[in-house]
Amino acid sequence: MTKISCVINEQPYQFEIDPRLSLLELLRENGFTSVKESCGVGECGSCTVLVDNIPTDTCIQLAVWADGKTIRTAEGEHKNGVLSSIQQAYVDKGAVQCGFCTPGLIMTSTAIIEKYSGQMLSREKIRRELAGNLCRCTGYEKVIDAVQAALAKTMESPAK
Ligand code: FES
Ligand code: FES
Repeated sequence: MTKISCVINEQPYQFEIDPRLSLLELLRENGFTSVKESCGVGECGSCTVLVDNIPTDTCIQLAVWADGKTIRTAEGEHKNGVLSSIQQAYVDKGAVQCGFCTPGLIMTSTAIIEKYSGQMLSREKIRRELAGNLCRCTGYEKVIDAVQAALAKTMESPAK
């Protein structure tokens, strides 16, 4: 067993884990069930969280590699019951179908909004930024609408 410490959604955690455990398994076993397993091999992005603010496929990361890192999952993005701007934009634009890919897409979209705050991106650029996240329902157009809507908000009031 190996001990690790990390911060998840602004709360400190310590775990004693099997060094073979994936980060996906660690998160799901500890209640972060927004993190979805689909392909399990780093192809679909359903298991994406932000590790030190970088979108990361947790199915191909060992949990031990999270030692000392800061992790954000979709559960932590709403504050006091208020959705983050990108979560709200997904709702407003109807960018969810079955929803299985949605938490991963939300986290990648969150990274896009923070990286490009105050700018508007073309649909093509957003498509490229979201290329690591696959949707089985192929609902990409409304997802791009949502990212553009959230970016537009950052142009009214920069930062998040
Ligand atoms: S489940 Fe991790 S990338 Fe598909
Ligand atoms: S909304 Fe169904 S997989 Fe994307």
